[in-house]
Amino acid sequence: AGLHVLAKQAGKLYFGTATDNPELTNTSYTAILNNSQMFGQITAANSMKWDATEPQQGVFTFAAGDVIANLAKQNGQLLRGHNCVWHNQLPSWVTAGNFNAAQLTQIIQTRCSTLVGHYKGQVWDVVNEPFNDDGTFRQDVFFNTLGQSYIATALNAAKAADPDAKVYINDFNIEGTGAKATSMKTLIKSLKSQGVPIEGIGLQSHFIVGEVPTTLVQNMQEFAALGVEIAITELDVRMTLPETAALLAQQKKDYETVIAACQAVPQCVGVTVWDFTDKFSWVPGTFAGQGAACPWDENFVRKPAFDGIVAGF
Ligand code: XIL
Repeated sequence: AGLHVLAKQAGKLYFGTATDNPELTNTSYTAILNNSQMFGQITAANSMKWDATEPQQGVFTFAAGDVIANLAKQNGQLLRGHNCVWHNQLPSWVTAGNFNAAQLTQIIQTRCSTLVGHYKGQVWDVVNEPFNDDGTFRQDVFFNTLGQSYIATALNAAKAADPDAKVYINDFNIEGTGAKATSMKTLIKSLKSQGVPIEGIGLQSHFIVGEVPTTLVQNMQEFAALGVEIAITELDVRMTLPETAALLAQQKKDYETVIAACQAVPQCVGVTVWDFTDKFSWVPGTFAGQGAACPWDENFVRKPAFDGIVAGF
């Protein structure tokens, strides 16, 4: 059976993958992507980001994002919105704008409400990567201008634009317990005490072979205890190249560990891989000398990691 079918049988909402517009011309790729038994959910890897959707202030372009949204609809797959506010892939008018607090607040409100309003009925990574690895707030243009209030502004705007949207904060290196996860928990409590909508936490889960945090389940339980759901939003498990049989075997175990962790926590709703094939993985372009992070190889052949996912459910 496909991975999505296995996820559903295991009581999860979906198994999904990121995808990107240029990849859709590859018919070997789309044959797997469009199989709704394999993937019950897709996330646009790039085409709903700020630079892609509001290249000039107030000028919204949804053509590329709509291709992904329409594909999900055609395939009967859930769509995850990614993302409203993030420090990366910003148009230069945001980073160079020197906006004051009132102006930047308005800009965030306009962006979040227009984006979430355009794609109604979805789950959204409203705020992406708000923390540094030491648990301090990331000193990006939003925090530097507005302090942490930008987070509530974005969440409120998203929810107001679509009350049916589910609003998440998404980050990496919060999968295990530690300073960064603790800061995220503090933020959730603070938002909830202020009545700000926060319904889920996305654990990106860009892991390294052999280094899946041992506190994954405990940490998810701690998030769940705060009254939020959890999703594994961007799973991949990279290795230093070249790949070896031993590394691929460990990677299989690592994928199984992550799936089993989600399985162990009822509030973990589903798992998304950050693309399913090494051919289109973001890893080699970002982490020099590393790669082979996905469950399918670059020729679309299933790797041991695929069997690890199956074994985890
Ligand atoms: C990545 C995309 O996959 C790449 O194509 C792009 O060049 C950079 O961004 N965390 C996130 C994702 O939240 O949006 C990032 O996606 C990967 C890290």
